[in-house]
Amino acid sequence: MTVLTKPEVIDTIDELRNSLCLAKQNAAARGGDAHVVLVPTMGALHAGHRELVRRAVAVGDIVVVSVFVNPLQFGVNEDLDTYPRTLDADVAALAEEGAAFVFAPHAQEMYPDGASSTRLTAGAVGGLYEGAARPGHFDGMLTVVAKLLNIVEPDIAVFGQKDAQQVFLVERMVADLNLRVRIEVVPTVREDNGLARSSRNRNLDEPARTAARSLFVGLTAAAAAAHSGVPAAIVAAHAVIGAAPLVKLDYLVVVHPHTFLPVDDDYRGQARMLVAAVVGSTRLIDNISLDIP
Ligand code: PAJ
Repeated sequence: MTVLTKPEVIDTIDELRNSLCLAKQNAAARGGDAHVVLVPTMGALHAGHRELVRRAVAVGDIVVVSVFVNPLQFGVNEDLDTYPRTLDADVAALAEEGAAFVFAPHAQEMYPDGASSTRLTAGAVGGLYEGAARPGHFDGMLTVVAKLLNIVEPDIAVFGQKDAQQVFLVERMVADLNLRVRIEVVPTVREDNGLARSSRNRNLDEPARTAARSLFVGLTAAAAAAHSGVPAAIVAAHAVIGAAPLVKLDYLVVVHPHTFLPVDDDYRGQARMLVAAVVGSTRLIDNISLDIP
C-alpha cells in the first residue's frame, strides 16, 4: 500500500523559505541529499503536470510545486478570471506524486506593488509566435519564473515540452542572467487520441475536441514528411489541419532549435514545428520535433 504524505501548503514567501531551510537541515542531519526541485504551474493539474512532478521526484529530493495563476502573463482580453482554480484537487494529486511543498501565494504576495513593479523583458523571440498573439505574455511569464527561482532557489526546475517557446525563453533567461539552476524538460503528455493535455481542454465541447485532434495528426504527418524537406513537412501539416472543421489556424512554423527563428526551405538537421489554432473558441498550441536529413 502506498502511504500518502500530504504536501505542506504554503502561501507566503517567508514561510516557504523557512520550511525549505528546515527540510534541507533535516535531510543533512539524516545524512541524505537535499536537492531542491521546483515545478512551476498555474494549477488545474492534469496528467501532463503530474508527469513533471514525477520527473522532479526522480531527479531530486525536496520537490516544490508552485500553483499560481500569474496575472502578469495574461492579456486584457484573456481568460485570467475564468482560468480554472482547483487547489484542493491539485494538493490531493500532488500528495499521490510525492511533492513535499505546494507554494500557492496570492497575487498580493507576489506583486505587492502591483503594476508598477520591475519586470523582465524576453528578447526578440518573445515577440514571435505565441508572443505575437499574446503581447507581453512572455515578459510576464519570465518575471514570475525568475521570482519563483529566486524564492525557492532550486537546483533543478522542470518544464514541459508542450510549451516549447516557453522552454526556449526560460533556458535563454537562465543563460543570459547566469542563474544557478538546471532546466529539465519533459516530453508532451497526450490523451489517448494524441491531443496534448492542457488545462484549457476542459473548455472543448465534443465536436471541438474531435477537431482539436487534427493538430497532432497534422504534426505527425509533418514529421513523417520531413525526410523530403521543410516545405514538404509544412504542406503535409496544412493538408490535415486545413481540412479540419472548427479549426482556425494562427501559425504553423518550422524553427531552428538553437535560435527558435524560422528555418529556410533548404534547411537540414533537427528542427521543431510549432502550431497554434483556435478550435471552437479555445486557443490551443502544440509542437513536434522534425528530423530533416
Ligand atoms: P501551466 O500551463 O500550468 O504549465 C505548467 C507546466 O506544465 C509547464 O512547464 C507546461 O509546459 C507543463 N505542461 C502543461 N501541459 C503539459 C503536457 N501536456 N505535457 C507536458 N508538460 C505539460 O506554463 C505555465 O503554467 C506557466 O507559464 C508557468 C511556467 C507556471 C509560469 O506562470
